[in-house]
Amino acid sequence: MKSISTIILAAGVGKRMHSRVSKMLHYLAGKPLLEHVIQTAHHLDSTKPPIVVVGHQSKQLRDALSHCFVTWVEQEHQLGTAHALLQALPHVSDHDHVLVLYGDVPLISLETLKQLVTTTPSAAFGMLVAHSYQPTGYGRIKRNAKGRVIGIIEEKDATEEEQLITEINPGIYFLPARYLKKWLPALKNNNAQQEYYLTDIVAYAVQEDVSVYTIEPATIEEILGVNDRIQLAHLERFYQRQQAEQLMRQGVTICDPARLDVRGEVQIGQDVCLDVNVILEGRVVIGDHCIIGPHTILRNVTLGKGVEVKANSIIDGAEIASDCVIGPFARIRPGTVLASQVHVGNFVELKNSIVDEKSKINHLSYIGDGEIGKRVNIGAGTITCNYDGMNKHKTIIGDDAFIGSDTQLIAPVIIGEGAVLGAGSTLTKNAPAHKLTLTHRLEQRSKNNGID
Ligand code: UD1
Ligand code: CA
Repeated sequence: MKSISTIILAAGVGKRMHSRVSKMLHYLAGKPLLEHVIQTAHHLDSTKPPIVVVGHQSKQLRDALSHCFVTWVEQEHQLGTAHALLQALPHVSDHDHVLVLYGDVPLISLETLKQLVTTTPSAAFGMLVAHSYQPTGYGRIKRNAKGRVIGIIEEKDATEEEQLITEINPGIYFLPARYLKKWLPALKNNNAQQEYYLTDIVAYAVQEDVSVYTIEPATIEEILGVNDRIQLAHLERFYQRQQAEQLMRQGVTICDPARLDVRGEVQIGQDVCLDVNVILEGRVVIGDHCIIGPHTILRNVTLGKGVEVKANSIIDGAEIASDCVIGPFARIRPGTVLASQVHVGNFVELKNSIVDEKSKINHLSYIGDGEIGKRVNIGAGTITCNYDGMNKHKTIIGDDAFIGSDTQLIAPVIIGEGAVLGAGSTLTKNAPAHKLTLTHRLEQRSKNNGID
């Protein structure tokens, strides 16, 4: 087994994004471009941190990705890809093989990299190649009459004839570190861009009879770089299509695969239906037979079996047991736990609250920091006044309680089991179990013609 040092080049400027944010930090599927590459490198070999070469906006990058297990290396001036790689070499053992990746080529797949590192003969120079009828911008692969790779020519240095070559260089290489340590310091920058070209090492390989071994990725999108926001959107859609197809193959119905966005890790059971414009973010687990209505967002959510989420609901940081019915237009915020068969209806907001089996909060309510028992009925317009401007307080409601409509529960407050609260009450004290509690009401009067 070869010992691999992965080096990710990410020091370039990214002018065409027209952004104050480093190109490497623009999001694809909810995650910075560079983080996709770092994660793929980890999946390939989790024992060693990948080496990331940064330069332009490097502080911004390091801060944003400080949670990543990587070795950061600075390239002070961006003098070319070979110069960038050279900065990382002091961190690489002579006995290692080096895998070169790019921070702005986010969708390179684990399968392709595994194939590259396992099938490249130990003493060979391995590289990806691809065929593209739109080769503009890429280095072109030059082969001799026998089909052997003899060099890579950068577009800016290519003759018209060379520009017609459709075999392109994705820039992903795998080779013994000792070759790089020998060849990189010797490179010259006498080319159109006056840069130190990493691509020039192919010529050294040929000179020294090191065989050049090539493989192709499964899809062209794997090797596409992000230089502007149009390319970013293209890769985003490609990635989303792949996610949707993988879910459909596993038994999920997706009403329109072009209108589903997965921005995290999802696990979805059988016979789940996802309607149009569903966004899944973070870690989302959806049990069998759930129905997710249109225009919904589920973020860091676990849904049990048979849950129905109706249109326009947002559920964030919640655990929802089987057979609950949520929405339409519900907002469930972090820390909320619903037991089975709970109903949460339209314009209801729940935050950091536990709701036990079969309770119903169906209309226009806010429940924050609540502990609601079983089979509780919360009437329309019920508000827990959980915040006094300084601290948050709890509202506890016992099993089988009935909260009349338009009630304010000024926390901390406890409502006993089976208690009934009259509509329009403002509770400042606890309400005893099995009793009707109502606060003072104005006398109801009717007048003639507005006079008497
Ligand atoms: C490079 C290849 C080209 C290949 C293409 C694939 C060279 C000379 N050319 O060209 O053959 O088809 O990638 O996308 O290698 N970077 C640094 N420091 C630098 C320069 C670049 O870290 O000084 C990083 C960039 O951030 C980027 C990557 O290296 O992630 C590639 O650099 P870029 O300038 O985009 O190279 P290309 O001209 O596209
Ligand atoms: Ca590029």
